[in-house]
Amino acid sequence: MSHADDHEGTRRDFLFYATAGAGVVTAGAAVWPLVNQMNPSADVQALASIQVDVSGVAEGTQLTVKWLGKPVFIRHRTADEIEAARAVELSELIDPIAENANISGEAPANDENRTLDEEGKWLVMMGVCTHLGCVPIGDGAGDFGGWFCPCHGSHYDTSGRIRRGPAPRNLPVPVAAFLDETTIKLG
Ligand code: FES
Repeated sequence: MSHADDHEGTRRDFLFYATAGAGVVTAGAAVWPLVNQMNPSADVQALASIQVDVSGVAEGTQLTVKWLGKPVFIRHRTADEIEAARAVELSELIDPIAENANISGEAPANDENRTLDEEGKWLVMMGVCTHLGCVPIGDGAGDFGGWFCPCHGSHYDTSGRIRRGPAPRNLPVPVAAFLDETTIKLG
């Protein structure tokens, strides 16, 4: 059995915006005073920071972009998804840590500590299962209405937190921020 990209829904929404010339992604200006063979290659540096236009991401849908060679899920959550995520008690969580690179590493995994905005409409996470690295299926998949990794059966909730299965950690939230109302910067 293969990975999540066999799932037709995942394939359909798997849009790689980080392709040259797409017009929606611009590389950050990372300038290094010294260059030696230990530095990442020029193309890796160019994508260390990208900007993603999310103006077309309707509520209840998600965009998957490729960043640093990995998928990143950018989901525009519905009110129901937000409500479900915020109703969960911390004691119910397998991984009680927020796993959010934008805040303290000790912060608890309540939903407010994982979303990009205070209202919780936007959830940005690495789309890599914390078990063995498959790409989970989204759009309400799994027993908790969030994401499901079919490789070995890990269920993530609408906040991307692991709730059942072998994965040990919540899907990590990368360094990310809104630059304006419709542009998210990764990295
Ligand atoms: S890689 Fe996701 S459950 Fe094993």
